[in-house]
Amino acid sequence: MKHLTLRQLEVFAAIARHGSFTRAAEELFLTQPTASMQIKRLAETVGLPLFEQVGKRIHLTDAGRELYTVCREIFERLDQLEMTVADMKGLKKGHLRLAVVTTAKYFAPRLLGPFYQRYPGIEVALKVTNRERILERLADNSDDLCILGQPPEEIDAEYQPFLENPLVILAPADHPLAGARKITLARIAEEPFLMREPGSGTRMALERLFERHRLKIRVRMELGSNEAIKQAIVGGLGISVLSQHTLALDGTTGQLTILDVQGFPIQRHWYVAHPRGKQLSVVARTFLDYLFEVRQHFVAPSIPAVRDAPRRKSGAGGNRRRSHSARR
Ligand code: PGA
Repeated sequence: MKHLTLRQLEVFAAIARHGSFTRAAEELFLTQPTASMQIKRLAETVGLPLFEQVGKRIHLTDAGRELYTVCREIFERLDQLEMTVADMKGLKKGHLRLAVVTTAKYFAPRLLGPFYQRYPGIEVALKVTNRERILERLADNSDDLCILGQPPEEIDAEYQPFLENPLVILAPADHPLAGARKITLARIAEEPFLMREPGSGTRMALERLFERHRLKIRVRMELGSNEAIKQAIVGGLGISVLSQHTLALDGTTGQLTILDVQGFPIQRHWYVAHPRGKQLSVVARTFLDYLFEVRQHFVAPSIPAVRDAPRRKSGAGGNRRRSHSARR
C-alpha cells in the first residue's frame, strides 16, 4: 500500500464522488486515458478492483468503498495540516464545510457575512437540507460542523446549544383566533394544518406534541418548504407550526400572526454538532468561537400579536380580504 500515490488517490476520490471517469478527468484537467491509467495502477497496488460498471454507471466495489473511507480521512487530515500551518504563520486560512437544517437558513447565511469580513482567507461551503439528511451527513462525517434543531439522539455526536429556537403557531392575520388568549391545543387541533415534509425537525416537534396530548393533526397539505407554508397560510389554506426564525426579513409581514396557544412557543434550541471524537480543524474551531461570540445578535424576530384586526367569521379556508393591521 505504501506505493500508492496521493495523485492516484485524488483521481480515485474524484471518480467515486462523480460516479464517472469523464467528469472526474474534467475536474482534474486530465485526459480520460490518464485517469484510467492512474486507477489501473492503484487497483494493482490494492490487489482488487475498485470500481464496477452496472449499466452506464460506475459503482465502488467493497474494496473501493474501504479505500474511499481512508482516502477521505487522508485528505481531511492534510487539509487540517494546511490550516494548522497557516495558523502557525498567523493566518486564518482554509475551508469550512458547514451543513445546516432548512430552517437555520434564516440566520446561518447572515452569520457568515461578518465572519467572512473578519477572516477573508476562510472559504465556507454551506449545505442546507432537512434534519434527516443532516443526520446522515453527521453520521458520515461529511462536514466540519452541523447546525440542527435538536440534539442528534440517534448518532454518537458532540453538540452544544447556542441559540433559542421557539416554534410558534402561525395563522393569517385575519384568522378568527387571531388576538384570542390562551387558546387550547384541542381547539387548535380542529384547524386544518400545513405540514413540512417527513424528515423535517419542525414536523417531528409538532407530531410529538400532539402525540403527547393524544390529539390528531388535521393535515390539509404537505409542503417541503417553510416559505411555501407561509405563503399558503396567507392564502388561507390553513395554519402551521414554524420556527419563529422563519419570520426574519419577512415579505409576509402584516399578513401573518402568531397565535397565543397553551404550551407554545415550543422552546427548542439550535445546536452545533460534529461526530464524537472528530478532530476539529483550526478553521472549524475559529467558527465555533465566533458563533458563541455573536449568537445574541441572531435571536428570532417577532411580530406583534393581533388585537383589533378585522376577523373572518367562519373557519379557515377559502379566499378572504387580508388584514394589514398587524405590522412589525
Ligand atoms: P427542519 O429542522 O428545517 O428540518 O424542520 C428544523 C428543526 O429541527 O428545528
